Amino acid sequence: MATQKKVRLGLVGTGSRCHSLCDAYHHHKQLEIVACCDTAKGKAEAFAGIFEKITGQKGLRAYSSYEEMLQNEALDALMICCDPDVQVDIACDAMNRGIHVMTEVPAAFSIAQCENLVDTVEKTGCKYQLAEQTRYWKFIQEWRAMAERGEFGHIIYAEGEYLHYEPAWDNFLDRKTGYTTVSADPSFYADPAYRSSWRNWCFRNPIFYLPHTLSPLLSITGGRITKVCCMGTRPLSYATELMSARDIQNAVMYNDQDTVFSVRTGYTSPYGFKAQTGAHWYQIKGTERTVEWARSTIDTPKMFTPVKGTHDGEWKAMDWTCADPDMPDEFKEAAHGGTDFYPIHYFVDAILNDKTPPMDVYKAVETAAPAILAAISCEKGGVMLEVPDFRHRK
Ligand SMILES: NC(=O)c1ccc[n+]([C@@H]2O[C@H](COP(=O)([O-])OP(=O)(O)OC[C@H]3O[C@@H](n4cnc5c(N)ncnc54)[C@H](O)[C@@H]3O)[C@@H](O)[C@H]2O)c1
Repeated sequence: MATQKKVRLGLVGTGSRCHSLCDAYHHHKQLEIVACCDTAKGKAEAFAGIFEKITGQKGLRAYSSYEEMLQNEALDALMICCDPDVQVDIACDAMNRGIHVMTEVPAAFSIAQCENLVDTVEKTGCKYQLAEQTRYWKFIQEWRAMAERGEFGHIIYAEGEYLHYEPAWDNFLDRKTGYTTVSADPSFYADPAYRSSWRNWCFRNPIFYLPHTLSPLLSITGGRITKVCCMGTRPLSYATELMSARDIQNAVMYNDQDTVFSVRTGYTSPYGFKAQTGAHWYQIKGTERTVEWARSTIDTPKMFTPVKGTHDGEWKAMDWTCADPDMPDEFKEAAHGGTDFYPIHYFVDAILNDKTPPMDVYKAVETAAPAILAAISCEKGGVMLEVPDFRHRK
């Protein structure tokens, strides 16, 4: 039985993701969102005003830096949803001060960051969780249960994609104010008042975003990725003129359970959305069953069950969904079919009841490291790279 204590949460980064998460997080009965910070001028204050309007909760304290927030607040935990390349440093500093931490995808951008994250969790004993949420889609939960019951036989292949086109992303950041500009105008590259935003430099190697897709796939297959190689188009988009981005990258990976993986990512070409999941798509091929998500908005999810010993079998359209109709009411308020609530639910539960959260630090870096090495592989023309084992280090 959980105690009635509340977790006092601080928010680091009040950009678009923070807005979307807090719409739902404030419904959590054992969570008190007490403070927020953002390095862009006046952004945290503006967020505090919006937060009050949405939630009716007055007095969310706003700061212009993480350090200032920690000097003034006694926090139990942080939700770090700022630029992903600075999340690990903040997370490790916070855990060294005894503060529990949740970060956003992708968990890290270098193998050194992965090691730092694991070392710090092991040393401090703080709770760390990656807030990857697509692993909680209802159909992913069903596929996971099928795998646990052995219904796939041996899973020989897992495939996924996250192909999310926007005609213009928030590509450029005003150096003075710290605010980003939504534009695909390449003349910003030459303007000294601006620099590339995190999205813009990340999309040069979009495979950095592979963890979002690998997380649900690994939750079904089990095991860890041991080998990775990756190919991509040139680092100059064909579809978004003069944008410094690869339109697609595809990583081929292998895990320690003899399963082959193929995952692709891209953000700058119009790829076409899928029913319910939008930019996300998945397939699992086992010796006894194949399942796949709808490939387009005019397709349906489907399952193939072979007739043993023949090449025949039955393809069946399935009525799988993203949202779980039976989820508690507070989950239903969250984006991505309610799944954005699962990470905060498990994070608070881990803190209050001393549990290991489901997407713990090992699982987080086991999605990040293959992405980091895939980007390196692509830069080197597709060489195969070995992924370190973060659970058994010397
Ligand atoms: N899981 C998902 O579905 C999902 C969806 C969107 C974004 N994300 C992730 O969430 C994170 C944030 O994305 P976003 O879309 O909100 O980005 P964003 O650029 O809109 O917001 C990031 C904010 O962090 C602030 N910031 C940067 N450095 C900071 C620092 N050191 N301290 C405090 N604030 C700082 C920026 O000023 C900005 O306001 C990224 O890791 C992204 O990958 C996840």
